Order: sequence, then C-alpha cells, then structure tokens
Amino acid sequence: MLLVIPGVLDNRKLSQVRSLLEQGRFMDGRLSAGKTARRVKHNEELQSDAHRMEQLNKLVMSSLVQHPLYQAAAMPYRVATPYYARYTPGMSYGDHVDDPVMGPPGGQYRSDISTTVFLNGPDDYAGGELVIGTTYGDQSLKPAAGDAVIYPSSSLHHINEITAGERLVAVTWTQSMLRDPQQRELVFELYQARESLLESEPESEVATRVDHVYVNLVRMWSEL
Ligand code: NI
Repeated sequence: MLLVIPGVLDNRKLSQVRSLLEQGRFMDGRLSAGKTARRVKHNEELQSDAHRMEQLNKLVMSSLVQHPLYQAAAMPYRVATPYYARYTPGMSYGDHVDDPVMGPPGGQYRSDISTTVFLNGPDDYAGGELVIGTTYGDQSLKPAAGDAVIYPSSSLHHINEITAGERLVAVTWTQSMLRDPQQRELVFELYQARESLLESEPESEVATRVDHVYVNLVRMWSEL
C-alpha cells in the first residue's frame, strides 16, 4: 500500500525544522548506505549534534507517530530514528530496495514500511520525484511540504535527479505489528469502513459489528 498522509507537519513546525537543518552539517549519504544502495545513492545526510537531532526528531517524529492515518495504515511496533536528507542539483538515488533489517546491535528492527516526510514543497526544486514500483506500475510522487508518503520497504524505488533547487526530506522505517503488506492493506480498508460507520451511524448494529471484526482481526494478526 502506498499512501500519502497529508499535513503531518504544519507550517510552523516546517519552518522550525528548516531552520534547524539550515544550521546543520550535511555529509555524503553513502556513508550510511548498505552495500548495494551505496552504488546508487547520491545525496547528503545531516550529521549533527545530539541536541539538534533531538529537537528535529521531536518535531518530525512526534507528529508522524501521532497521526491517526499513520497509526491505522502502518500499525507501528517499532519506529526508527530518522535520517534527514538533502538533494541538490545533480543528486539522485537510483533504483534500490531498502535494507531488510536495520538499527544497531541490540536495537535492531525489521523494515516493513518506508516513510518519507517532505520538509519542503514541490516548487522548491525541479526533478526529485520519489518513484515507487507497484503492481499497478510506477507511481511518481512529489507531494506538498509537510506530507508523508508510506510504502512497503520491499518495493523497488528511486529518486529522480534534482535539476534545480533543493529537496529536503526526513526518511524513516517502521516495523509493523502486521508484517504482511496485504494484511495491512485489508486491515486499513476495514479501518476506513469502520471510521465512516462510526461517524455516520455510530449507534447502528452494523457499526458495532464492523468495529468488533476490526478489533479482533488486529488481535488475530498482530505480532509483537
Ligand atoms: Ni530507499
């Protein structure tokens, strides 16, 4: 499932994030890439002091993990500390699949879902689309500042070359309680049906039944 979650960061938080990034130090992103990704990765990543990172993570990650759509679609069990990436003209990230297991020894997690939070807008750079391979063909994305895109970490994806301006993103990974992407998709569809029933006819028997099925399906399928 590929989903755009709108408005994860509002304008106030976006400008705070961008000013923290402006004062930060960026390094070659290849340093943090896995063996195969290193060959195709051309970007820069923030390497900064713990205090700045903490401020950034607080702004970006608390908004993401508290977002009801992210909660319902990702069913997060573990969420990684994000990377902050910058792409300037000539930079790109060729086709790759994200590493399956990440994190330091003792703090490892499986990457089920990749998340990109867009820290500036489509008018701030030319090129730089996030292109994700799906069963329905390639999807090319260049959403608004503050939006997040989530997609299965197993998908082949790339970032088109930036030809002007600057692309700023936060990238993170989630280990989901629902490992299987098809199960996640079914549960998310049922969640949406349940939400609209609880909104339109909360007292109805059908709303109660759908709610029970949703809750018990999550209980049946979730792995912790
Ligand atoms: Ni990737």
